[in-house]
Amino acid sequence: MKCETFTVIIIVENKDKGATAMGIYYNEKASLFRLDAKDTSYILKIASCGYPAHVYFGKRLPDEDLTYLLRLDENPFTPETNNRDKACYHDTLPFEYPSFGTGDYREPAFKILDENGCSTCSLTYVSHRIYGGKPKLEGLPATFAEENEATTLELYCEDKASGLQIVLVYTAFEELDVITRSVRFENKGENAVYLTRAFSTCVEFDDCNYDMITLNGSWARERHIERAPLHHGKQLIDSMRGESSHQNNPFVALVSHNATEQIGEAYGFNFVYSGNFFAQAEVTQHKKARFLMGINSLDFSWLLEKGESFVAPEVVMVYSDEGIGKMSRTFHDLYRQHLIRGQYKDKRRPILINNWEATYFNFNTQKLIDIAKEASKLGIEMLVMDDGWFGHRDSDNSSLGDWFVYEKKLEGGLKNLVDEVNKLGMKFGIWFEPEMISPDSELFKAHPEWAIQVKGRELTLCREQYVLDYSREDVRDYVHSMMKDILDNANIEYIKWDMNRQLTEVGSQTLPKNRQRELWHRYVLGVYDLMERITSEYPHILLENCSGGGARFDPGMLYYSPQIWCSDDTDAIERLKIQHGTSICYPCSAMGAHVSDCPNHTVGRSTPFSTRGHVAMVGTFGYELDVTKIPQADRDAIPGQIAEFNKYNTLVRTGDHYRIGNVFEDNTWDAWMFVSKDKSEALFEFIQVLGRPNERSRRIKLCGLCPEKYYYEESNPELKLSGAALMNAGINIGNIWGDYQSRILHFIEAK
Ligand code: DGJ
Repeated sequence: MKCETFTVIIIVENKDKGATAMGIYYNEKASLFRLDAKDTSYILKIASCGYPAHVYFGKRLPDEDLTYLLRLDENPFTPETNNRDKACYHDTLPFEYPSFGTGDYREPAFKILDENGCSTCSLTYVSHRIYGGKPKLEGLPATFAEENEATTLELYCEDKASGLQIVLVYTAFEELDVITRSVRFENKGENAVYLTRAFSTCVEFDDCNYDMITLNGSWARERHIERAPLHHGKQLIDSMRGESSHQNNPFVALVSHNATEQIGEAYGFNFVYSGNFFAQAEVTQHKKARFLMGINSLDFSWLLEKGESFVAPEVVMVYSDEGIGKMSRTFHDLYRQHLIRGQYKDKRRPILINNWEATYFNFNTQKLIDIAKEASKLGIEMLVMDDGWFGHRDSDNSSLGDWFVYEKKLEGGLKNLVDEVNKLGMKFGIWFEPEMISPDSELFKAHPEWAIQVKGRELTLCREQYVLDYSREDVRDYVHSMMKDILDNANIEYIKWDMNRQLTEVGSQTLPKNRQRELWHRYVLGVYDLMERITSEYPHILLENCSGGGARFDPGMLYYSPQIWCSDDTDAIERLKIQHGTSICYPCSAMGAHVSDCPNHTVGRSTPFSTRGHVAMVGTFGYELDVTKIPQADRDAIPGQIAEFNKYNTLVRTGDHYRIGNVFEDNTWDAWMFVSKDKSEALFEFIQVLGRPNERSRRIKLCGLCPEKYYYEESNPELKLSGAALMNAGINIGNIWGDYQSRILHFIEAK
């Protein structure tokens, strides 16, 4: 109980007005809700005209009534409720969930098409419910929390004329600066309604003095950081590719202009969804900012017949008053504790060797066994057989959908291969691309109508393949049974689930005309359905997601797989930017990262084997090379590299991550740290991208240590330095000879 003037009960409906459960307080007199998450408050109020209005989001406040903060700016010549009572000017009121067509000319959060063919809608408060814990979102990934870990507010609202019920769902986390939001729609009216937009969050900012940080890129260049100040008009990122995409990640941070890793305010928004999305900051005529995030409404509509409902996926909102670094660490903690599931959630992942860059499609049983034999001698724990083991697949132009073994390549069958690998003391993993169908496949011959397509239009190929219509249960059932046949036939302990093309000609052969525009979302729901089935039926299997590298590195996927392949670019230097950008909101423990051979297959660069190891070591770690062919010196280095990974993995997986260098600003070096939660141990890594003349020493300030504690670096136990000295004065990184060099330092608390 944090505020004495409120009554405390655990679960209340609004018939018990004036009550609260843990972190959510309702002040009935002021019609004000205060959601308290760790050091953060989020405040909303039912304005006199019945609209839920936004009051505050930021550092935690103790006050009971902050009504004075509600912006009721008068705005002549724009529509208002009750004409001139000056209570709610629609074009300036900060709405919690803005509607369309009644005089708010900013971008709406939702929009409908009613039985008259009109889009006007509005949203007014009806009642609310506060309770401990967090509800599941049916069929969708979402963060989870126990009853004592979070509190939820459900704000029941309506669009009176259409009979649409809109429930705004907020959850405040007790121990993290996190508020989540989602929205539930239910048609309580007599007539059908189409939702033509159903975003998941809207946050109104009282000024526009922010920079927008986004994670953008392309294939092999995912999640590079861009930062630009907000300006009048609309700044947005989105995807209409059917997946979250290489190009834009479903993440945005709005940060104060002065924000760095350590200081300033940062608001992070991450969409727990793997399909089309939209995220936009709009600067209004009065220099306020409205932020929106949700499913992209371009080509979206969802029919709600009487009694039907729709759930808009979750947006995670993180607040930090200690810079971008703290925002990232909050996301990391949230995802490690409240999103990732399964047996590997808190475990070290097996060190794998994947044959993709080693052989591409050119392998057979013997080749894989040769790799496994050598790998097992060096301490590698799992062989992953990548693309090319099924149908008659010798290149990327056939066989997707034919999930049976290509006997010509895997002589003796899959079980024989897996048994042989197991005999070497190694686990076995396998690659699937379950959402795809090749025109040259048995499956396409039997079921051309299973491909997503628009009648009468030519299908566009991409990587010689089409996409299966996952809105269809029969299609999902078929792929499921094919996958089961494989998984039940051999001791498979890992799956790499790949997805290598974006959607085009989006149409389904089974959906009725008025539901065709539901396909984009139904496709994603279908993918989630199959992933849920596979992960619950085979809980021992470690699932790694992948999409042409990192095109589906999103929180939706993290709900099903504790790790995601970060990028097809395995070059250690390119990876600095990719992994730095990814760490803005995703934990390093989830980043698929491997040591590959040189010259690197994507950029042709040669880097020291040790540097490749140090960069991959802060991800899931593994190898992507032909271990029978690499230089002897590299092979000899593997056992030591594995020992190093093992030594630091707990720290990397569970510790706090601090970015120290910034390769986006200075491409000559990078550095980062992992500090244990009790601050008794820290790993510091330094990468010199380019050697520099006449720079004898370089002082780098460490982060995250306890200033009062004393630490020594493992190789020099005599020299004990305070956390204060290490963080305020720094350490000297001597002049390192050569490009692409790396150093690691291990600090241990001196007791
Ligand atoms: C794209 C992935 O990112 C690669 O690692 C590899 O699995 C190929 N697909 C196989 O086709």
